[in-house]
Amino acid sequence: MRCVSWLLLGTCLLVLGPAVQGVPVQCPSLCHCHGDLQHVICDNVGLKKIPRVSEATRLLNLQRNNLGSIPTGAFSESKGLISLHMQHCQLREIGSQAFKGLKKLIYLYLSNNEISSIKSGAFEDLTELTYLYLDGNKISDLGKGIFSPMINLFILQLNHNKLRELRPGTFTGAKDLRWLHMSGNKLTILHPGSLDDVENLAILHLDGNKISTYPSAAMSKLRVVEELTLGRNPMKTIPDNAFQSFGRYMEKLHLDNMGLEKFSDDAFTGVTAIKSLHLDNNKLKSLPRSLEYGTLTNLTLSNNPWNCTCQLAPLRRWMDSSHNRPDAVCASPPTQKDKPVRDSTNFSSCRLKGKRIKKGTRH
Ligand SMILES: *[C@@H]1O[C@H](CO)[C@@H](O)[C@H](O)[C@H]1NC(C)=O
Ligand SMILES: *[C@@H]1O[C@H](CO)[C@@H](O)[C@H](O)[C@H]1NC(C)=O
Ligand SMILES: *[C@@H]1O[C@H](CO)[C@@H](O)[C@H](O)[C@H]1NC(C)=O
Repeated sequence: MRCVSWLLLGTCLLVLGPAVQGVPVQCPSLCHCHGDLQHVICDNVGLKKIPRVSEATRLLNLQRNNLGSIPTGAFSESKGLISLHMQHCQLREIGSQAFKGLKKLIYLYLSNNEISSIKSGAFEDLTELTYLYLDGNKISDLGKGIFSPMINLFILQLNHNKLRELRPGTFTGAKDLRWLHMSGNKLTILHPGSLDDVENLAILHLDGNKISTYPSAAMSKLRVVEELTLGRNPMKTIPDNAFQSFGRYMEKLHLDNMGLEKFSDDAFTGVTAIKSLHLDNNKLKSLPRSLEYGTLTNLTLSNNPWNCTCQLAPLRRWMDSSHNRPDAVCASPPTQKDKPVRDSTNFSSCRLKGKRIKKGTRH
C-alpha cells in the first residue's frame, strides 16, 4: 500500500520484482523505460499506436499522444500492468474488451479525451481496478452494469462530462465505491434506485448540474455520506429528511449558488455531525428549526436576503458564541435592512425556544 500511495503522486518507481522470463526485453521506440521495463514512459512523443509491452511492465504512460482508439487486444500481452495513463490521447470511444487481460490494473487514467461512448463490456477483466478517472470527456450515457467487473472500485471521477440522467443498474457491482464525482455534467434526474448499489459512498459531488428537485428517493439508501456537493443546481427547496439516511456522518454540505429559497422545517433531521455548511448566493430568508448549529465550524451565508426576525435567533445565538464570522446581511424587516445579522438589534427580545442542546450521546 505504501507504493500505491506514492503512485498517486506520480513518482513511485515500483519495487523491482523478479523479471518475467521469455518475453522480448526492449523499450518501445520513442519511449523511455526504467527498472527493466517495469516503467514505460511515452508521454507526448507522437505515438500513433499503442506500443506492445510485456508482462514485466507495471506502469505504462501514454498520455498526450494522438491515439484515437484502443484496438481490441491492445493490452493482451501486458498482463502485469498496474497503472495505465492515457490522458489527452484524443480517444473517442472505449470499445468492448478494450482492456482485456489487465487483471492486475489498479489505476486507469482516461481523463481529457473525447470519449462519447463506452461500449458494453468495455471494462471486462478490470477486477482489481480501484481508481478510474474519466473526467473531461463527452460521456452522455452510462450503460447498465458498465462498471460491474470493478468489484474493487474506490474512486470514480466523471466530472465535466455530458451525463443527463442516472438510472438504476448504472453502478451494479461497484459495491465498494467510496468517492463518486459527477460535477459539471448535465444531470437533470437521478432516478430512484440509481445509487442503491453504492450505499457506501462517502463523497458524492453533484455540483454544477441541472437537478431541480432534490433526489430524495435516489439518495435514500446512502448510509455514510460525509461530503455532499449540490451547489450550482437550480433547486428551489430542500425537502424534509433530505439527509436523514446519512445524517450522522455528513460533515460537509455545499448548497451554494442554487437559487435556493427555502428549507422544509425538517430538512436537517438526523444531521448531527455537520462541520461545514455552504449556503452562499441563494435566496434564503431563514433557516429551518431542524438545523443544529453546535458542530458547525465553517458556515457561509453571504448573498441571501436574510429576514432578521426571531426565526433567525438560533443563528444569531450561534454567531455570538462562535469564532466563525460569516458574512450575512439582513434584507428584512425594513428597520434592519442592510445590517449584518450579528449587529442587528432585532433579536434581543427573542425568547430562546426549541431543543435543548443534547450532550454526551454521540457515537
Ligand atoms: C470553509 O470551507 C470552504 C469551502 O470548502 C473553504 O474554502 C474554506 O477554506 C473553509 N474555511 C475554513 C476556516 O475552514
Ligand atoms: C419575516 O419573518 C416574519 C415572521 O417571522 C414574517 O412575518 C415576515 O413576513 C417575513 N418577511 C419576509 C420578507 O419574508
Ligand atoms: C423586528 O422588527 C420587526 C419590524 O421592524 C418588528 O415587527 C419585530 O417586532 C421586531 N422584533 C423581533 C423580535 O422580531
